[in-house]
Formats: sequence, structure tokens, C-alpha cells
Amino acid sequence: GAPVEVDISTLQPGEMRTVEWRGKPVWILKRTPEMVESLKKTDKDVADPNSERTPDMLTPEYARNQYRSIKPEILVAVGICSHLGCSPSTKFQTGAQPSLPDDWAGGFLCPCHGSTFDMAGRVFKNKPAPDNLEVPRHMFVGDAKIIVG
Ligand code: FES
Repeated sequence: GAPVEVDISTLQPGEMRTVEWRGKPVWILKRTPEMVESLKKTDKDVADPNSERTPDMLTPEYARNQYRSIKPEILVAVGICSHLGCSPSTKFQTGAQPSLPDDWAGGFLCPCHGSTFDMAGRVFKNKPAPDNLEVPRHMFVGDAKIIVG
């Protein structure tokens, strides 16, 4: 599939955009400072904090860090659960979803078998999903544009 160019110049903190790449949904999320900060807390609760399990398939080298990204505030991830391929939904602690437990900073929840992922798409321990969400190859062109693929 051809690379996809995404203009992120108007993306607001806390906002996520979904684009299609090779028939898959790719999320581009501009994390708020709180979302970035939450990754320090979830580090110990996620199964593979540094994305070492299947790095070549799921996480390009430049994203093998706590943020799983090139720039801490921008997450680019494939929105398909690593378990059986359902599409996780967003559970952001922005006030819009008061049903979240207080101790969860938010992230993504897979409706099929309950896997939860943090704000970097890292799967929490003891969940059915075996891996973190895939980070597709991508690059920045200036500050305003991302090329996925
Ligand atoms: Fe996501 Fe099973 S498909 S938890």
C-alpha cells in the first residue's frame, strides 16, 4: 500500500484522528501533557514496557521507548487489538467518560475480551492481548505533517 500523508497542523491536545493505511485504521493522537505523564505511572503495570517482545513486527526502533513514538506528544498506532483483531475504543480521562476508575489514567479498551492498553498502546499485564498495539512505520515532515508507511 502507498504511504499516507496526514496533516496534523490542526490537531489539538487530546484529539485523535483516524486514517486508513493498507486497509487498517491508524490512530494519530496528540497526547496532552497529562497523558504523556501517565506513561511513567503505567510503566510498571504494562506487560512489555519497552516493546521488546516482537519489536521488529510491532515497534520500529525509533518508537522503542516509553512513549512508543518519535515525539512524546504524538502517538501513531494501528487501532487493531493484538489478540483477535477487534478495534479498541478510546477511554481518555478527559472528563467525558466519568465511568473510568480513578486509578486508570485512560488509554484504550478492547470490547471483545477486555484487554486494556495505556496511552502509548502498551497492553496491561494479565490481559488476553499478547502484545502492544502496532506502531506503523512513519516519519514527520516538519511539524505539520506525518507520512505513515
Ligand atoms: Fe481484543 Fe480479544 S480481540 S481482547
